[in-house]
Amino acid sequence: MKKKIAVLTGAGISAESGINTFRDSNGLWENHRIEDVASPTGWARNRQLVLDFYNQRRRQLLNCQPNKAHILLAELEKEYDVTIITQNVDDLHERGGSTKIIHLHGELLKARSSLDEELIYHWPNDILEGDKCEKGSQLRPSIVWFGEAVPKIEDAIPVVLDADIIIVIGTSLVVYPAAGLLHFSKYEAEKWLIDPNKTHLPAIPNLKFINDKATTGVDHLVKILMNNRNN
Ligand code: OAD
Repeated sequence: MKKKIAVLTGAGISAESGINTFRDSNGLWENHRIEDVASPTGWARNRQLVLDFYNQRRRQLLNCQPNKAHILLAELEKEYDVTIITQNVDDLHERGGSTKIIHLHGELLKARSSLDEELIYHWPNDILEGDKCEKGSQLRPSIVWFGEAVPKIEDAIPVVLDADIIIVIGTSLVVYPAAGLLHFSKYEAEKWLIDPNKTHLPAIPNLKFINDKATTGVDHLVKILMNNRNN
């Protein structure tokens, strides 16, 4: 049986594909207020601003490609049972070839009803004022905003509980519940963290730190894991 790997990714894994992170210098939250563009109150106050923000993100995504880190994680599936748990709303893990992906914070290429959260549509274009779901309510980005529940965490917890190896890549680990997932890992699980700018590490037993960008850090780690696959 293949060993199980859970990979938790954040905006840092897509940085080298040209997508801005949130909290680095010139990150998205430096130029936009979370409460204006990523909260239910922002949506109630000024829908157009929210639609513009995500329309811009979606257009940018369509011009970006998966990088080596996304692609190598997909290649790991040849030897390991890999599940990606991502906070990212881009589709670069999908396009990189990974097959098991949990999107904790939603997906940019989907729109959903603002009345019924089960009504979700594939939506690669701008969402416009007046675009409606089949029940007649305005479509909104299918993104989990601040202050909203994160239902996919229920799928992610058992993956982490079960994993033999956990890999964390490019996340500031400040947004919950995603940031708390590592605490569900087995004590004996091998744990790796890849990030070029970490000043302090989470207090997790057996954590090994690769102080590097996602592309080169994942390349280094995948070589180690491929060598160790039968251990
Ligand atoms: P952040 O912007 O908070 O953190 C990005 C992390 O990526 C930082 O730790 C950086 O050091 C690291 N990083 C930067 N460049 C990198 C590179 N080339 N390779 C690897 N790592 C790199 O992004 P997240 O942790 O993903 O939620 O943010 C979590 C959530 O907060 C997001 O999903 C989003 C945001 O508000 C919503 O919008 C709901």
